[in-house]
Amino acid sequence: MSYKNPETAAIRIQTERSHNQEHSAPVYLTSSFVFDDAEEMRATFAEEKQRNIYSRYTNPNCAELVEKVCVLEGAEAGTSFATGMSAIFSTFAALLDAGDHVLSARSIFGNTHTLFQKYFPKWDISHTYFDVHNLDSVASLIQPTTKIIYVESPTNPATDILDLEFLGTLSRKHNLIFIVDNCFATPYLQQPIKYGADLVIHSATKLLDGQGRTMGGITVGSENLIDTIYRFARITGPSLSPFNAWTISKSIETLAVRVDRHCDNALQLAKTLEAHPKVKKVRYPFLPSHPQYELAKKQMKAGGNIVTIQLDGDVTTGRNFLNAIQMCSLTANLGDSRTIVSHPASTTHAKLHPEERAQVGIADSLIRISVGLEHIEDIQQDIIQALDTLK
Ligand SMILES: Cc1ncc(COP(=O)(O)O)c(C=O)c1O
Repeated sequence: MSYKNPETAAIRIQTERSHNQEHSAPVYLTSSFVFDDAEEMRATFAEEKQRNIYSRYTNPNCAELVEKVCVLEGAEAGTSFATGMSAIFSTFAALLDAGDHVLSARSIFGNTHTLFQKYFPKWDISHTYFDVHNLDSVASLIQPTTKIIYVESPTNPATDILDLEFLGTLSRKHNLIFIVDNCFATPYLQQPIKYGADLVIHSATKLLDGQGRTMGGITVGSENLIDTIYRFARITGPSLSPFNAWTISKSIETLAVRVDRHCDNALQLAKTLEAHPKVKKVRYPFLPSHPQYELAKKQMKAGGNIVTIQLDGDVTTGRNFLNAIQMCSLTANLGDSRTIVSHPASTTHAKLHPEERAQVGIADSLIRISVGLEHIEDIQQDIIQALDTLK
């Protein structure tokens, strides 16, 4: 059955009911699936028949989750993974050969950067970074061996917006695979495939689960690319647990209402903090002061849940702010129902030199706020009381 609105599909898509006629999908905690006879088993292994064989390959809970994300992203096919990083690694590893080159935005998730920097050279896979503020330079960086263009938008934590349509057109012109990590926006706010992305990756650990419970990853996109990725993954085994797939699939039923509330809270908080004397700068894609406000409005339905503030001070000011927080959580995750504050310069990005941090928009006093679903008054009160303690 097809649905007019993806929000309905996110609620109504469900693995086929069993003879028990359950309303909510059961969890298929099983390693393998049985066959009626030798012929059915042979035909399934020969891929003449589509059936679940073994949960490292496919599982009904994973299939349900993937179907939902495909509908939300407008993708032909997809495959699920144990974490966002296993989705990223498997996608690259399946598509790249020794000697290939990746062209990536400089502002990407730290562990993805480590993959490019430390591990891919072992397999003779090279990369070049481009500046997210200078997309005009990207064409000149394409090499004969370039196979993939890779970006995140909005970026973490600077919330820079990359022009997906521009990069989609460029990728098509040069016959490159365009991959977008869409975990900050979610498919509810942004569908990169509409702008020419061939593949979209999610850390489902973030807003898709949205409650800080489970890890998960998903890659969706064109059928032929997904087939290559799926065949690599089913051999190498970074499979998503059926229980986690069930949890994330249930969470996706409330994705639209949760993300609406995340975005309302984030916009209100950003507006309030813009007027606060202890805050030097606020970055939020849907604030008119954001340098790419028009682009953000073109490719996103709302601004997402990440607000960054630059305090008037240095690394110590950032740490003092965190120490003054009373309600919000000091933790590594984002996209949770609970508001999370973090200080990239002393944690996730501490190993970078200050100049390298500046290149990706991370000032020493920058605070990243993953705005949650609590009442906005409580979020604002906690952040403002922490700001008010600063000298
Ligand atoms: C943009 C982005 N991509 C990928 C990942 C990796 O996801 P996971 O932690 O589920 O492996 C993260 C995690 O923080 C992220 O922020």
